[in-house]
Amino acid sequence: MPNKPIPRKFSTSAPLRGTMRVPGDKSISHRSLMLGALAVGKTTVTGLLEGEDVLATAQAMRQMGAEIERAQDGTWTIHGVGVGGLLQPAQALAMGNSGTSTRLLMGVIASHGISATFTGDASLSRRPMGRVIEPLSLMGASFSSSPGGTLPLMIDGSLPAVPVTYRLPVASAQVKSAVLLAGLNTPGITTVIEPVPTRDHSERMLRGFGAELTVEEVNGERYIHIRGDAELQPQDIVVPGDPSSAAFFIVAALLVPGSDLIIENVGLNPTRAGIVTVLRAMGGSIDELNPREVGGEPVADLRVRHSALTGIEVDPKLAPSMIDEFPVLFVAASAAQGRTVTSGLDELRVKESDRLCAMAAALSAVGAAVSETEDGLIIEGTGGELLTGGGPVITHLDHRIAMSMAVAGLASRDGVEIDDTRPIATSFPGFEALIAKVAA
Ligand code: S3P
Repeated sequence: MPNKPIPRKFSTSAPLRGTMRVPGDKSISHRSLMLGALAVGKTTVTGLLEGEDVLATAQAMRQMGAEIERAQDGTWTIHGVGVGGLLQPAQALAMGNSGTSTRLLMGVIASHGISATFTGDASLSRRPMGRVIEPLSLMGASFSSSPGGTLPLMIDGSLPAVPVTYRLPVASAQVKSAVLLAGLNTPGITTVIEPVPTRDHSERMLRGFGAELTVEEVNGERYIHIRGDAELQPQDIVVPGDPSSAAFFIVAALLVPGSDLIIENVGLNPTRAGIVTVLRAMGGSIDELNPREVGGEPVADLRVRHSALTGIEVDPKLAPSMIDEFPVLFVAASAAQGRTVTSGLDELRVKESDRLCAMAAALSAVGAAVSETEDGLIIEGTGGELLTGGGPVITHLDHRIAMSMAVAGLASRDGVEIDDTRPIATSFPGFEALIAKVAA
């Protein structure tokens, strides 16, 4: 990342039109690299997200012995070392801004006989790691972390590790995945109990790579079992477009008058698609064209047309299926007719920034009527009027705050000034160029 912030003003947009694609899914991209590195032999990945977060995962897997290359045509190949075959990294693993890389790799390392140091940027170094330290310690790994269970931290993996049955105390796909990945090299059966379902890419992909993983439902909870000492078979993976990235363009097209936009190849895994459900319930015109399957995930092209939106009370049960999309939903709500109420969003306070606080401040600064509660925001929409605009708004090293407020700028009268656009590259390289393309 460049040393100095790169501010930018996002001005009132022409209608968004034409056909576009968003980059590959971030969650699936991280997992492709990790599982590819843990398989024996050559895995290929097309459509990998080449954002800074995913590149941090690639670099870490290289440091632990995997050979990872990108061909001219954008295909990635990974020569894996096999479960149990990771090597002691010589240097600290630099995780940048990426919580997913950090938490999932802590799981991977927990059951290998190696140790590693994790470092991160200022945002990542504030985020809680206790939620993975706890179950991985039960499995035998030991940790020495910075005060408050944060980075920088050191992990000593345990070989052999001990299988556990662990009930998730927070709805977190990262914690679930950390324990399942640790289970890969742990003799016996490791079980994660998930009271509230979260994104299931790890389960789908672990099975795809040949792990013995089963899921049963017991009294409304998901019990996920993985058999350890697994052998993973290399795969050819096609990564679908990231619904979390598509969400910025969906909301932009709904808000900017005259828009009629097709976003191709969007992943619509039900554990990720909550934003589409909620925007439709608000009156958003979002059609699914050409539904199909890509890389074991449901995918469609989305046609999004400018729509008059109405405020809504968002069911907190939907939160895990749209956990990364609340910042941009808040933007949509700010321009809707009437009141939007959200709750049950405590987890937003421990993302790349405190997203409730950051979005309340940013939206208020550009003319929206927002009040912050303990676990959500309440927003009185403009009734379809453009937001006033203004700024500079503060992004707190959080890519999704930056992109959400860029979308607010497109649907504002005077434009919105963002203090720093650098974080966008963590998950969505090419975001600004795509806006220029579809708003031309
Ligand atoms: C992710 C899980 C979510 C999400 C993050 C990616 C994953 O985090 O916010 O962007 O790939 O497993 P939590 O597990 O903390 O909810």
